[in-house]
Order: sequence, then structure tokens, then C-alpha cells
Amino acid sequence: MPTTVVVGLQWGDEGKGKMVHNLSESATAVARFSGGANAGHTVKLGGSDLVLHQVPTGLVQPAVKAFVGTGCVLDPIALSEELKSLMDAGINVGDRLRISSKVHLVHPVYKALEKMDEEDRGGNAIGTTLRAIGPTYVQKFSRRGIRLEDAACESEFREAIEAQTDRCLSMLDLSSDRRTEIRRQSERFTELSLELVELAGDVSLALEEILEEDGLVIAEGAQGTLLDPDHGTYPYVTCGSCLSGAASISLGIGPSMIDEVVGVVKAYCSRVGAGPFPTELRGDTGDMLREKGHEYGATTGRPRRCGWLDGVLLRYASRLNGCHWLALTMLDVLSGFDSLNICTRYELDPDSDVPLFETGRRLGKHRPVFEELPGWSENIAGATSWDDLPEQAQRYVLRIEELVGVPVRAVSTGPGQNDIIWRLF
Ligand code: IMP
Ligand code: MG
Repeated sequence: MPTTVVVGLQWGDEGKGKMVHNLSESATAVARFSGGANAGHTVKLGGSDLVLHQVPTGLVQPAVKAFVGTGCVLDPIALSEELKSLMDAGINVGDRLRISSKVHLVHPVYKALEKMDEEDRGGNAIGTTLRAIGPTYVQKFSRRGIRLEDAACESEFREAIEAQTDRCLSMLDLSSDRRTEIRRQSERFTELSLELVELAGDVSLALEEILEEDGLVIAEGAQGTLLDPDHGTYPYVTCGSCLSGAASISLGIGPSMIDEVVGVVKAYCSRVGAGPFPTELRGDTGDMLREKGHEYGATTGRPRRCGWLDGVLLRYASRLNGCHWLALTMLDVLSGFDSLNICTRYELDPDSDVPLFETGRRLGKHRPVFEELPGWSENIAGATSWDDLPEQAQRYVLRIEELVGVPVRAVSTGPGQNDIIWRLF
């Protein structure tokens, strides 16, 4: 049985959580393959919102097994709070959650390192979520990281954590109160990591068994393609790989185990943090998108920058991920605009055409060239059938399909789990 990979094709917050939740209704397991507590997936449960950061969204389905892959970074303090909020919401995690023993742990002192680094960049700060994602991956690749499996040997683990805390504190200029606070957090980190050993396991092996028994695995990405450290808008990116290919490496399943790649696309664009955003709208239209789409960060509460859909970017992102089909989300947010713009190419002075997406310093200088499409006034929230959509909305969807060259199989029309139009081909 297959593995389906779900990734975001813009700058994150495309609505992957909802699509994963929906697809996982028939799944055996959902496995997160990237990022950490920087992610924020809002799941509508009954009338209330549950925000998940580190555990796979599929955990919300009562019978689904959940895995956190090796390529993620895990914050034990944040995880204990998240597990408590799941319990409060009546979700029984029990033995359904397994974390790769090779996952790297986010130590509290890394947050102070990240704050220092962001301050040091001044006006060029990345605008990170300050969840110490970057410093944890830096420790990993400088081969000084702490892995969950290290906590299996308690006395050595305690010594290693103390040494790591001392080493990192020596790089920081902090008051003695702040140092004491970090040492206290480090103790809590140590205790919680020791408790987490119980959930540690071999994710690769567990997934192999599920796939051999014909189970369906959903591999859940985090953030979005343009935040990928290799192919995104470097240096304004995150540090965990956001592309479908990363699912294979992170989860320890060969590429031949992946059958389907789903690209999640928001019907317009948003971005949190700094970095180039060619189709950004800075005036009233951008504000309208932000308010109608409730575009405020699920993790940090920051207002998201909003803009028109970018077809050049989507073609690039779909190619990098090898998408089989797209899920278009938040289409209902576009009701009420007289007309809608889609960027189909860029221009650079003096009037040179840029048909393909490119990263690097030039990107910030691109002028988007838009195609105008008619809007619609009807409220389409909660529509579940293609025929419920006004002709202009159908045209918008079909134009995206044409520009990207990949079918739009699902259209999300509201935050509710069933607010989806499935198009059958
Ligand atoms: P970091 O992942 O905290 O290092 O942040 C790096 C960049 O990625 C910043 O621009 C963040 O705003 C952005 N980012 C990280 N996680 C998310 C997410 O889940 N959604 C949207 N943007 C994110
Ligand atoms: Mg999010």
C-alpha cells in the first residue's frame, strides 16, 4: 500500500493540516517529516480550534498511528504542553505516538542563541518563530547535537546536557538571572527528555511493517516549498527540508515507497517573517485578504503578509515536489472581490521577461505581471460540490490548473473538516 506525501507549495500556512486530517480518515499512520514547534496546524474540532505544533495532525483521528520522523527537531518542553492540550481536548494519545530515537532535541539555551543571532542581523533579521529551529539544525550538522536516543543512558545524558549548556552559555552575554533561568529550564528539559525515551522508536522499521501489511501512510510536511533551505528564498528560509523528497530521508523509507505527492496551495499567498514576496499587496486589498482569511500566525500570532496568487512560483514549487495533484484551500476567502489577479510572469528592468521562478538577490527586484480574472460575490463557504461554485470561481480554479499543469483535485471552501469539494477525474 502507498505512501502519500503532503507538502505546502508556498510559504507555509496553506492549510496542510486540514488536508492531512481529511486524508488520514482512511490512513493507518501519519508521519511528520520536517520542522518542529515552528509549525502551527489549526484543526477545527467541533466548535473549537486545536493548534498542533509538533505532533502529526493525524493524531486527531482516533485510530491513526502517529510518527515524528528523524528529520524533525523536537522540543520536549513544548511537546509536554501540546500533549496536555490534546488530553484536555479529549484525544487519547495512548501508545499511538512514536518518535524517532534519532530525532534532535531543542535545548532551551538554543532559544537564547537564536535571539542573539536575530538581533545581530539587525535590519536583515530572518523573522524566525524564535522556536530555536535554526540553532538545533546547526548543532545537528556541526555534530554537537543532542538526540533523543542519548537520553537512554541517563547519567551520560545528564553530563552531556550540562556540558552543552555550559558551552552554549559561554557564547552568550546574559545577566546572571537569565543564566539561572536557562539552567532551570535545562533541568526541566532533561527530566522531560528522560520521560520521552518511552516514546522513542525506529520509525523506519515501523513504517516498513505498516506498508508491508497494506497500510496507508500519510507523510506530513511542514512549512512550505519557498521556505526550504535549499530551494526556497535563501537566506529567508527555515532549516528543515520542506520538499516531498525529504519525506524519504526523514522517515527512512526509500523513494520507491512513495506513490503520491499532494501539493497544498492557498488560493492567494501569505508569508510570515522577512524575505522576498513578489506578489505582496501592501494596501487595502492585502488588509482585506488578511482579515477575511484570519491571516495571523498560529504559532506566533504575527500578522501575515498577504498577496495575490503567484503562478510562476507555483510552477516552480510543483516541479520541485513532483506533485500528482493539488489541493486548493481558502477559496471562500476570495468571495467578494470585484476582480482577482494571478501572476503569470515577472519583469525585470528594463522590461526583461522572467518566465521562470528564480531565487537569489534578483527575486526582490521582480515586478509581477498579472492576469485579471473576474471575481464573484456569492458566499461559497462550506460548498461541497463543484456545481455549487459560481462560474467565475470555477474559472479561477481551472486557470490555476492550466498554469501549473497539474490537476486540482480538492478545493477547500471553509475551515470545517467537511468543507471540501472533491473533483473526480
Ligand atoms: P524558523 O523556522 O523559526 O527558523 O523561521 C524561519 C522562517 O520560516 C521565518 O520567516 C518564519 O516566519 C517562517 N516559518 C517557520 N515556520 C512557519 C510556519 O509553520 N508557517 C509559516 N511560516 C513559517
Ligand atoms: Mg501554519
